[in-house]
Amino acid sequence: MTAPLIDPFARTIDYLRVSVTDRCDFRCTYCMSEHMTFLPKKDLLTLEELDRLCSAFVRMGVRKLRITGGEPLVRRGIMTFFDGMSRHLGAGLDELTLTTNGSQLDRFARPLADAGVRRINVSLDTLDAAKFKEITRWGSLDKVRRGIAAAQEAGLRVKINTVALKGFNEAELFEIVDWCRAGDMDLTFIEVMPMGDMGDGTDGTLRLDQYWPLRDLRARLAERFTLTELAHRTGGPARYVRLEETGQQIGFITPLTHNFCESCNRVRLTCTGELYMCLGQEDMADLRAPMRASGDETPLEDAIRAAIARKPRGHDFDYSRQRAGGQMSRHMSHTGG
Ligand code: 5AD
Ligand code: SF4
Repeated sequence: MTAPLIDPFARTIDYLRVSVTDRCDFRCTYCMSEHMTFLPKKDLLTLEELDRLCSAFVRMGVRKLRITGGEPLVRRGIMTFFDGMSRHLGAGLDELTLTTNGSQLDRFARPLADAGVRRINVSLDTLDAAKFKEITRWGSLDKVRRGIAAAQEAGLRVKINTVALKGFNEAELFEIVDWCRAGDMDLTFIEVMPMGDMGDGTDGTLRLDQYWPLRDLRARLAERFTLTELAHRTGGPARYVRLEETGQQIGFITPLTHNFCESCNRVRLTCTGELYMCLGQEDMADLRAPMRASGDETPLEDAIRAAIARKPRGHDFDYSRQRAGGQMSRHMSHTGG
């Protein structure tokens, strides 16, 4: 164990999110265009390099590792990586988890549980098969539901992440809430972020008028339930309420407000070895070059420390403050949400 990672604002960085691929077997309209071009395979970190980088972070105090993508489970050989990371569990690492679209869970649920994964986040925006096809373009709701069932059978706790989209899943709000309660799943709503290919809707990408502020969603919930604001935070951007009538906890992630930056404990690693210190800022540090330059871990650790020393106080993430074009050019599938 080396000295922990502490940023200039005295925040301990103990949470690393890692995108293991920018590829995905879905083409969600708010995330990418149907004809998305992906990074050349040669630019990707190998599974061994991903292991080396993540292991360096664990040595430096990272206690929680979330694997993302793209869709992490479409990366070839990904179980080798999970199996490798499981050696850190209980030896520095407290939690190994992933965010997935659920498409491959029917075959990966058991091996993931065997690798020590206990909880997963599954992205799901609608319970209507036709709408699911519409929003994901390539996905099958049936397959995802089978994947979720397999995950629960394997003993994984499931949290559903639902992107709130005006005029799309607005009418399903209570159905989704009820479905999660019936299936004993946690639920978090995510406000849509202006990223990637968000356009005018002409090629099926998300339109700006689909923005559904969670403030409004919450007000809708309050029409049917008594909401109690919960004080607890998980260090992340989610705020929670309890629905008194059912006891359910519902999370809200509003990335466009920066009320959680003070407690930010996380950084993001892309599949090419770039470390983003803040989701809402362009600044990043390349870790691939220092890692490849030497088999010695010291230059890599130095590069990680130098990057953390540049972590900004907060982000500047607002529709009105984006540069011309209206969005950050970076894709969620690249930085991994
Ligand atoms: N806004 C909000 N959430 C997004 N995701 C992908 N693109 C966006 C966006 N533009 C979410 C997915 C999934 C996670 C990986 O990121 O729905 O929950
Ligand atoms: Fe794939 Fe997730 Fe993007 Fe949908 S939102 S295309 S599932 S990475």
